[in-house]
Amino acid sequence: MRTFKNDRFLRALARKPVDRTPVWMMRQAGRYLPEYRASRAKAGDFMSLCRNAELCCEVTLQPLDRYPGLDTAILFSDILTIPDAMGLGLRFVEGEGPVFDRPLRDAASIAALPIPDPEGELRYVMDAVRTIRNALGDRCPLIGFAGSPWTLATYMVEGKGGQEFARIKRMRFEAPELLRQLLDKLVQATTLYLDAQACAGADALMVFDTWGGVLDHAGYRQFSLEPMQRIVNALKARHPQIPVMLFTKNGGQQLEAMAATGCDALGLDWTTDLGEARARVGSKVALQGNLDPLCLLGTPEVIRAEVATVLASYGPGPGHIFNLGHGITPEVNPDHAGAMIEAVVQLSPRYHQVV
Ligand code: CP3
Repeated sequence: MRTFKNDRFLRALARKPVDRTPVWMMRQAGRYLPEYRASRAKAGDFMSLCRNAELCCEVTLQPLDRYPGLDTAILFSDILTIPDAMGLGLRFVEGEGPVFDRPLRDAASIAALPIPDPEGELRYVMDAVRTIRNALGDRCPLIGFAGSPWTLATYMVEGKGGQEFARIKRMRFEAPELLRQLLDKLVQATTLYLDAQACAGADALMVFDTWGGVLDHAGYRQFSLEPMQRIVNALKARHPQIPVMLFTKNGGQQLEAMAATGCDALGLDWTTDLGEARARVGSKVALQGNLDPLCLLGTPEVIRAEVATVLASYGPGPGHIFNLGHGITPEVNPDHAGAMIEAVVQLSPRYHQVV
């Protein structure tokens, strides 16, 4: 296992004592930063940036250089690299988000989906992990990540993100066996992908289940959690020392079941009370979150007060990783993100006094 000058994040994941609460931000390398926009302009577009290991490394380090309080790096990439490598034709349309040219619309195209080789079609991601790991040295850990099978399936079947989910839900009720076949392929692809990221130098792995919260209760267990469970099992068998984090947006009702997967931490969005979550599952897992990202549109004073509320809701002792409840948005003033990080640095030590 690697050792780091700053190991707060890994210590908190293991629920070991820390001097203060570690902090990072989902989407910390992104459009709210002018230096990110400059690197993206150099690359041409977002996917070209993802395919360039040197530029991926550059943008991964940008938030760490700007905010000395940040405690971990996260690979710069995207969850949609797997469906892209499966041949669906990913494009990012300005103002519309991700779009697939060839969404999955029939059984034959699901049966024909290839499982991408992480060191083949997805080698550019592993090259980025290796380049970043090398550049970070012993400064801090690096998080690798993937999308959950359910979340990838929603994008692949809908063709884009975030509307009614009518197509994928129709499949869930009308052709559950077909959905299961798709999820099985995504479990295989995602397991290989995360395993390869661990081998390439990721120190922790996170699964983003952005759309698990749109399922009904039983559907979540079957179609979102069960595939993630298989991924956790496989990763724990191959890399027992690497912490695995699960984040289901709007998954606050499912925390006990998520914690029972054997993962190390749960990411929480802002709709769940951290203190209540800790009472429910805090003896099993670390908890990450959960400031509303739009809080960063408020003044630095408001941000500081809201950070204080999040820290107080978790309360004293280890096992909390401060984060936003979802990704930081492009309109945020970078100084406001800095105010949030500084507030964690200043206000959290009192929750970690050794007695
Ligand atoms: O946290 C980080 O700094 C690591 C980078 C990261 C990105 N995407 C970079 C990115 C991570 C962890 C992701 C995960 C991701 N991608 C998720 C799961 C987390 C979540 O937000 O729920 C999802 C659903 C995606 C799919 C995706 N990719 C969307 C919805 C978008 C936004 C499209 C838009 O135009 O707003 C992307 C693009 C994307 N991924 C950007 C970044 C920095 C912005 C692209 C750009 O520079 O134009």
